[in-house]
Amino acid sequence: MKVLATREYPGPALGDLTDLEVLPLAQLERTRPDVEALILANEPVPLDLLPSLRIVANFGVGYDRIDVAACARRGVDVVNTPGVLDAATADLAFALMLAVRRHVVEGDRFVRTGAWTRSWAEGGLSDAVTRSTLGIVGLGRIGAAVARRAQGFDLRVLYTQRRRVDTELAEFRELDALLAEADIVSLHVPLTPHTEGLVDARRLGLLRDGACLVNTARGGIVDEPALVAELVSGRLRAGLDVFTNEPHVPEALLGLPNVVLTPHLGSATRQTREAMTRLLVDNLLAVERGDPPLTPVPA
Ligand code: DGY
Repeated sequence: MKVLATREYPGPALGDLTDLEVLPLAQLERTRPDVEALILANEPVPLDLLPSLRIVANFGVGYDRIDVAACARRGVDVVNTPGVLDAATADLAFALMLAVRRHVVEGDRFVRTGAWTRSWAEGGLSDAVTRSTLGIVGLGRIGAAVARRAQGFDLRVLYTQRRRVDTELAEFRELDALLAEADIVSLHVPLTPHTEGLVDARRLGLLRDGACLVNTARGGIVDEPALVAELVSGRLRAGLDVFTNEPHVPEALLGLPNVVLTPHLGSATRQTREAMTRLLVDNLLAVERGDPPLTPVPA
């Protein structure tokens, strides 16, 4: 099976593909009837240029930029990488919570700029993570991994999602109630037409003064201009790994002390990214053997 990969994906697994070509989509300028499989990272699929395509392998769990329905109409399977990146993303959500609540990045800047000139006992105070209330929006695999980590911090954990589940990990709240009650809100829903702009200006207004919003899911889940306004006013704090138009980050955030910004690092550990490549290659090998894909995205 001829496989096109839009970049060199990490780890040794790509080496198991016997007919692989690496070509960024921007350089795909002519029709390629030889290509049967495409590995990409949440990019629009050029179906018109790939008439023999059988499978799209998405390097990531989120596939909001892939038109799965159009692929299905053409008989093209789409697979993604569920499961293998849950721990890394949950770890990053916690890293952001800790960094924001405990002023880790602000403290680092304070030291580096030589502003630390007096006793530690006169420093500004931050807010505890331990024993605060965490609201998880979306208790899927990643949300549940965050909830499990929260137990080690003695957090009180609330969750919201459309389908209520029977769980010991967290107490259910409707979204508005969760936003009003939590000290920290962490987003773990996919970006879909239903979740786009879910945390809008009104809902941001429900957050308590000083509350911390952590987003390792997708920028589009939050009304970004409304969030920027709340952060510029200093009323809220945030740890943001994702943005509406990546890699664009709103200019107004860059100088703010109450925001920690990271460049979409959720799954970016060597171990996780290599496992993601492995899972995609195993999917392609399964399809090549005539078996069903291992981790299909529902059409
Ligand atoms: C995903 O899996 O969708 C992530 O955003 C990639 O890190």
